[in-house]
Amino acid sequence: MKTFKSQNDAIFLHLQVSTALMHEALKEKQTQSIKGLETAFHQFIQQIALPKSRLLDAMQYALFNGGKRMRPLLVRLVADLYGANESDIQCASLAVECMHSYSLVHDDLPAMDDDNLRRGKPTCHIQFDEASAILAGDALQTLAFEVLCEFKMSAFASSKRLYLIKILARASGIRGMCAGQSLDLLATNKEIELEALSHLHSLKTGALLEASVLFGANICKQVTSGDKENLRAFAHHIGMAFQIQDDILDVVSDTETLGKPQGSDQANNKNTFVSKLSLEGAKQELNNHHQEALHALDRLPYNTRNLVLFTDYMMTRTF
Ligand code: IPE
Ligand code: IPE
Ligand code: MG
Ligand code: MG
Ligand code: MG
Repeated sequence: MKTFKSQNDAIFLHLQVSTALMHEALKEKQTQSIKGLETAFHQFIQQIALPKSRLLDAMQYALFNGGKRMRPLLVRLVADLYGANESDIQCASLAVECMHSYSLVHDDLPAMDDDNLRRGKPTCHIQFDEASAILAGDALQTLAFEVLCEFKMSAFASSKRLYLIKILARASGIRGMCAGQSLDLLATNKEIELEALSHLHSLKTGALLEASVLFGANICKQVTSGDKENLRAFAHHIGMAFQIQDDILDVVSDTETLGKPQGSDQANNKNTFVSKLSLEGAKQELNNHHQEALHALDRLPYNTRNLVLFTDYMMTRTF
């Protein structure tokens, strides 16, 4: 594993590489998402009058450490189709990113992937300790639901709080991310069929990306059931594309660029699209999902340019 002169050097390089490869229009939206997330978090911490603590430090460490903020970006891009209100976007974005950050903290634990680098920094359990990382993950998960219950929203979005909670709960637990992570662990050191691997990917990674898309749609009054159907199809394909590219990057990239240990999947003897189909086969699958995601966007009667740019970024991202 490469070492960095300092942690700040690592984070800086990490973000530079990200922005260099993003289309300007998408980069602007990503910046808005990053800022919106920080504003929302600090506003919420004040709202619920949270005192400083070691647990809060570990949660903040896990949340604010240079993530790409793909899920908040998705919430925003979908909500933008309908002109949603900023506070509603921030609420939904903060909730889904808390859930995602918790999933990464637990994914890196010794009992799971046992990784020591995340977003160019020591993983939460290395920086703090294992017990703190477990608790920070747990508390980030429940914070996501507190945000959905209490963060300031418009009257319309507020009337949808319970539905938003249902979307996130379903995407995160036994019918979503946790189920996928469990299948991932059970499949370790074994050969599984491509169909089983696709199912596992759609749960462990696809479910939270789909929840982000559904959040963006459900905070908007004008969304139709036809739109939701096309957005679900879009979400399914970008969810698959996202994890397939993650599998590819684990093989072809390097630790410095990734901000997480390159080769972790092989070291852990994981089933991935690359181990299953070879690099070329994985790239072909990525291409298929990219095309299907674009077809789903074509069926939406709105200007989906930014979502098209997001879909293209699934193919070109380098970490
Ligand atoms: C990594 O997610 C884990 C997967 C679900 C593949 P991201 O690639 O979105 O990680 P961050 O949030 O940008 O660090
Ligand atoms: C994890 O997939 C997806 C999650 C639910 C966190 P990976 O284990 O491949 O994610 P990375 O590569 O560590 O980010
Ligand atoms: Mg994992
Ligand atoms: Mg991992
Ligand atoms: Mg991975």
